[in-house]
Amino acid sequence: MIPFLPLNRINAAFEPELSEAISRVVKSGWYLRGKETENFEKEFAEFCGMQHCAGVASGLDALIMIFAAYKILGKLNDGDHVIVPANTYIASIMAISKNNLIPVLAEPSEETFNINANKLSDYLTPKTKAILAVHLYGRQCEKEILLKFAKENNLLLIEDSAQSAGIKPFGDAAAFSFYPGKNLGALGDGGAVVSNNGELDSLIRMLGNYGSEKKYINGYLGFNSRLDEIQAAALSVKLKKLNEHNKKRNEIAMRYIVGAMTNVGARRALPLRLSLPLHDDNISNVWHLFVIRSKQRDALQKHLFEKGIETLIHYPVPPHLQKAYKGGNLIYNKLPITEALANEVLSIPLHQAMSDEEIEKVCGALRAV
Ligand SMILES: Cc1ncc(COP(=O)(O)O)c(C=O)c1O
Repeated sequence: MIPFLPLNRINAAFEPELSEAISRVVKSGWYLRGKETENFEKEFAEFCGMQHCAGVASGLDALIMIFAAYKILGKLNDGDHVIVPANTYIASIMAISKNNLIPVLAEPSEETFNINANKLSDYLTPKTKAILAVHLYGRQCEKEILLKFAKENNLLLIEDSAQSAGIKPFGDAAAFSFYPGKNLGALGDGGAVVSNNGELDSLIRMLGNYGSEKKYINGYLGFNSRLDEIQAAALSVKLKKLNEHNKKRNEIAMRYIVGAMTNVGARRALPLRLSLPLHDDNISNVWHLFVIRSKQRDALQKHLFEKGIETLIHYPVPPHLQKAYKGGNLIYNKLPITEALANEVLSIPLHQAMSDEEIEKVCGALRAV
């Protein structure tokens, strides 16, 4: 079976540096808010081309604290509207709701699966104060259009970069996740807030530390949300190879696209149809996920399983149909694209540790459909 994401194989590529880094932290006797975190924050800010990076405990916390900080800064108030794609992972939307802000759910583009930047004005209300752009599956949203729209309408542009480590942020603040399966994955949970705003950065640091800047002096009702020293040390090791690994992901994605479309050698097509993800040289993509689409998704998943290929669905139930949001405070109209995607998307294995044989096998299975 070709596993969807064998993290043991992926992390083996970082040995012995990874184990050495962990051992160094264990022996140091210092596990939180120390040199390792400080180093990683500096490295990651530089990698992103931004001035500040604050390590936090998860991607969800990064998002929650960005909105909380903008409320403290007076840029957002209870009940303000935030435009967010309807087809994202629920964490994006939860972070808005948790701050007593109202998510306004926007339909994605059928081509990119990202928020349809040309239709943003459809979702604008007198209360709209921010956009949360999600670079879903690792594909960058339409940067120029988003920046222009945010500027013209005086909106904060916040990025959910959980799935797009390797793509340079461009908004007011970006939230990253270092969940183990992400392109830059820790050995547990982790996240970061990246920005060019020193005031925001200090606030995030305080909020993640019980709202305290100085020990036992608490200015805000904060959280306990810090990136720990072991995760930071591991992430510093892994960051060094992120560009190389993202390049490998891109090569595999191109092989899938070309391989699936070359029907030479395919004997007879199965009665299943699928569409491949869009590839466009002008859109940055770190291929966090390679997501195909089919109206016969479940049969396709079964077919791939029988061929020895494990697949996953990102995501089978859109946030607005989750029990968590039953009677919840969401604004949306009909969401036919979002709902169709939930029934039709299928993620196939794609990661930098795949062998040539595995890649060929996936190409062959795609070609056969
Ligand atoms: C788009 C998106 N936003 C937010 C998150 C939340 O990140 P975390 O799992 O680190 O809390 C994730 C990942 O799970 C995600 O994919």
